[in-house]
Amino acid sequence: MSDRDETGRPRDEKMQHLLSLFDISADDLKQILAAADLLKARLARGDRPPVLQRLVLALLFEKPSLRTRVSFETGIAQLGGASLFLGQEVGWGTRESPSDFTQVLGQFVDAVVCRTKSHQRAVQLASFDALPVINGLTDLCHPCQAMADVMTIRESLGPLPGKHLVFVGDGNNVAHSLALICAMLEMRFTLACPDGYRMNDQWVDRVLEQYPSASVTQTEDAKAAVADADAIYTDFWTSMVQESEAATRRSAFAPYQVNEEWMAAAPNHARVLHCLPAVRGEEITDEVIDSDQSDVIVQAGNRMHAQKGLLVWLLNRAWIDENVIR
Ligand code: CP
Ligand code: NVA
Repeated sequence: MSDRDETGRPRDEKMQHLLSLFDISADDLKQILAAADLLKARLARGDRPPVLQRLVLALLFEKPSLRTRVSFETGIAQLGGASLFLGQEVGWGTRESPSDFTQVLGQFVDAVVCRTKSHQRAVQLASFDALPVINGLTDLCHPCQAMADVMTIRESLGPLPGKHLVFVGDGNNVAHSLALICAMLEMRFTLACPDGYRMNDQWVDRVLEQYPSASVTQTEDAKAAVADADAIYTDFWTSMVQESEAATRRSAFAPYQVNEEWMAAAPNHARVLHCLPAVRGEEITDEVIDSDQSDVIVQAGNRMHAQKGLLVWLLNRAWIDENVIR
């Protein structure tokens, strides 16, 4: 028997998951982003290399999605594989034990993307090492989003080290992944938010422990933060499953709307990002999201390209080694 499995990975290597960007190194991330750039360029020439031919990706989602679902399903199809969308009817967590569920799933499909209400559910899914688990958004983080975001910033503004990403909004899942990815890529990250909506302390401590020279700042002064921004990012004030807090959040975040006043305070070159979906008129105005400074549509499109890089990195490392220059 070969010492490599069918994905080109050494058989004695631990199963690789992507529950958060803490699961990979900065070098791994750079390799994934390089693969994403390469696959995006090849697609633009009409070239869809069947790098994951006949592999099957499951999507196990507890919450709604447009971008994450469609970008993973089309991405794997372009790579020669197939996907299965699994909603509530498969009974994850309700119909049988998590162990039976996951081990059975692992016999049928090659990897699973999960979108869960609680991050712990994703951790449990990965704990059986039955198949690689990719986080497609949990309450804690959204790593695939952050990969597409830095890809977008690099396309607009060039090399990433030293670039300043200012997130105006809730210190929640998207902000967590952005703070971490900025640390990994030597970018500066600032969260501007009202008191009480900062990032999880344990998350920030872990970012600084793992990347001691990281620049991670949290402030209530959004105007000062955007004055020095290369990219300004915002997200829902009320994330999925926080709906009962909507009224309180609307009033807390009202002074933090990304609007023309903030853009006037920002450098002319600053780009605008939003993970989408957006509540236009709440966290961002029509004028800003539709302006020439906005990259939000390209950013959403980059979800697919970034995730294709990730899927190939997870499932066909041999192709990465042969095709992606380190
Ligand atoms: N940004 C994002 O994850 O979008 P969806 O919720 O539509 O997947
Ligand atoms: N913070 C948002 C992101 C949506 C893509 C949420 O969790 O609902």
